[in-house]
Amino acid sequence: MNTDTLDTARAAIEKRGFLDIELDPTLDLFAEIEKLKKEKNALLLAHYYQEPDIQDVADYIGDSLGLAQQAEKTKADMIVFAGVHFMAETAKILNPAKKVVIPDLKAGCSLSDSCPPPLFKKFKEQHPDHVVVSYINCSAGIKALSDVICTSSNAKIVVESFQKEQKIIFAPDKNLGAYINKVTGRDMVLWNGACMVHEIFSLEKITKLKVRHPNAKLIAHPECEDPVLRIADFIGSTTGLLKYTQTDPSQEYIVATETGILHQMMKASPGKTFIPAPPNNNCACNDCPHMKLNTLEKLYLCIKYELPEIIMEEELRLAAKKPIDRMLEISARAGL
Ligand code: 13P
Ligand code: SF4
Repeated sequence: MNTDTLDTARAAIEKRGFLDIELDPTLDLFAEIEKLKKEKNALLLAHYYQEPDIQDVADYIGDSLGLAQQAEKTKADMIVFAGVHFMAETAKILNPAKKVVIPDLKAGCSLSDSCPPPLFKKFKEQHPDHVVVSYINCSAGIKALSDVICTSSNAKIVVESFQKEQKIIFAPDKNLGAYINKVTGRDMVLWNGACMVHEIFSLEKITKLKVRHPNAKLIAHPECEDPVLRIADFIGSTTGLLKYTQTDPSQEYIVATETGILHQMMKASPGKTFIPAPPNNNCACNDCPHMKLNTLEKLYLCIKYELPEIIMEEELRLAAKKPIDRMLEISARAGL
């Protein structure tokens, strides 16, 4: 790209969050993306909530912990992160020397947005004798105010790495925090944040669905509210849910998490039936609007032009890295 085109591209990203360049509709995006990945020695990481086409061209698909671990150990020159901003930001925190790009810079997260750093700083000051455990779905600003980070697959062991008497603030997800309080017997102070996708499931509709499908197991992500978790047969991270459906003998599942995960579930167990848990209205609200901002077209442009790029201040990056490193150490010790 020459300087003028680069300036135009940057202006488009500033405004819209992504490169807005018209593509030849006959272009085979799958083949082009594969070619670009090789040429640029790029690693394409994708979360399970990405659209199926993106999952199909990814080098690694995983939950937040798996993605952070892959980002930490890669030898690639560039990380292309098909996920939301906090995920790509985590990859950059772990890999300052590498270029980290994301198809749409505006792919955020309602949970992360529910915890602004200035407010959280005040909250923390009101609890001076507490340590802070933060769910990875938060900004670098929140990570920098935390003692350790966790994901849905290691939250229990991260919390249990502290003595029982240690007072803890858990942020930003009150549902995951309440669930971890329940399974560990702790009494953590919870920040009042939640994910818009996991809070939308209708207990009434799920209950009716269970009556119509008596052999179906309800599997749920711990970001769901307590009434849904109470009636779930299995609770786990996206990877946990996927693995469960591969090893459990049931043939039918009601899946209470974002619908993107169904693609890998159906691929891994083609003979089984997966029913997305219904939301409490008639829209497709169990699709994450942030995750779904990424498209195959934006992904292609992002690898080709190496934009939008995640840029971070070094001081913030270093402060946010400490609690992530601590999480990765705890996970490695536990064999996760
Ligand atoms: P995990 O994939 O780590 O379970 O997280 C789910 C989620 O909501 C990511 O935004
Ligand atoms: Fe955030 Fe929820 Fe979307 Fe995950 S599903 S990115 S927690 S809004």
